[in-house]
Amino acid sequence: MNILIGGAWPYANGSLHLGHIASLLSGDILARYYRAKGEKVLYVSGSDCNGTPISIKAKQEGVSPEEIADKYHEEFSNCFKRLGFTYDCYTRTDTVLHHKVVQNIFLKLLNNGYLYKKEVEQAYCHTCDQFLPDRFVEGICPNCSKDARGDQCDHCSQILDPLELLEKSCKICGDSPAAKKTKHFYFKLSSLQAELETYVDFAKRHKLWRGNAIQLTERYLKEGLHDRPVSRDLPIGVPVPVNGYEEKKIYVWIEAVAGYFSASKKWAKDRNLSESDFWDKETRSYYIHGKDNIPFHQLFGLLS
Ligand code: MF3
Ligand code: ZN
Repeated sequence: MNILIGGAWPYANGSLHLGHIASLLSGDILARYYRAKGEKVLYVSGSDCNGTPISIKAKQEGVSPEEIADKYHEEFSNCFKRLGFTYDCYTRTDTVLHHKVVQNIFLKLLNNGYLYKKEVEQAYCHTCDQFLPDRFVEGICPNCSKDARGDQCDHCSQILDPLELLEKSCKICGDSPAAKKTKHFYFKLSSLQAELETYVDFAKRHKLWRGNAIQLTERYLKEGLHDRPVSRDLPIGVPVPVNGYEEKKIYVWIEAVAGYFSASKKWAKDRNLSESDFWDKETRSYYIHGKDNIPFHQLFGLLS
């Protein structure tokens, strides 16, 4: 059997810490286990070189985002090597190949009617002069009244829209962000409700996922899935491949999660193999990540 094992992609904006290793180590054990059993294993991961965390770090240090990404990618690769991680391919999200793969997925979704344009209000910091990514808006969760980030509340796990937070502040400068209009592509996640329910039910019956992943995903399904914006006003990332939208970047939860797939392509290409040498109907895949990544892997990751 062919087995893909994907370890979550750390942001290339600061050194790894024990938490990264704690959540990623089980992937390496799984890879070794299946290799020892004689299965064909492809164990992949890479550095997440896109997004605001990197551009902020670059601004703070007065260097380009590429320099930051290069520095930490190098550090991560060495670190994983020294720790004895056995990735078959450890790559990064700023490669031409990854950009192409992600743009193809985006266009496929667009051509198959899964995306629509919508004008919305998003959190904009006038002091920092930029739209703020979800995780850079902090405030009070409207559901449980505890501290939360704009994408989700770590206390009650509610998925949030950053503008819903109470007492909002910009994580970069501390000022209070305003709502500003912008046009984005939305993904019809709600249209996949039934399909995802069947899928999660299957995963549950066959004990394919860990208990907490099933529980949390079932909760989201029970609350009902909402359409999500899949483009962002960001300085770096994979440009939206649509006329007039090239300045916008594809949302991390379509973009970075597609890295598992693009890394498998890179692995094949580097060995003059074809993709179909690895991917077939029987190929089984495992995704190894921390708990704050659950909804994005279980619900959105399936798209890619
Ligand atoms: N870099 C992101 C994070 O740390 C995404 C990691 S997993 C990925 O949350 F598959 F999406 F890359
Ligand atoms: Zn700010």
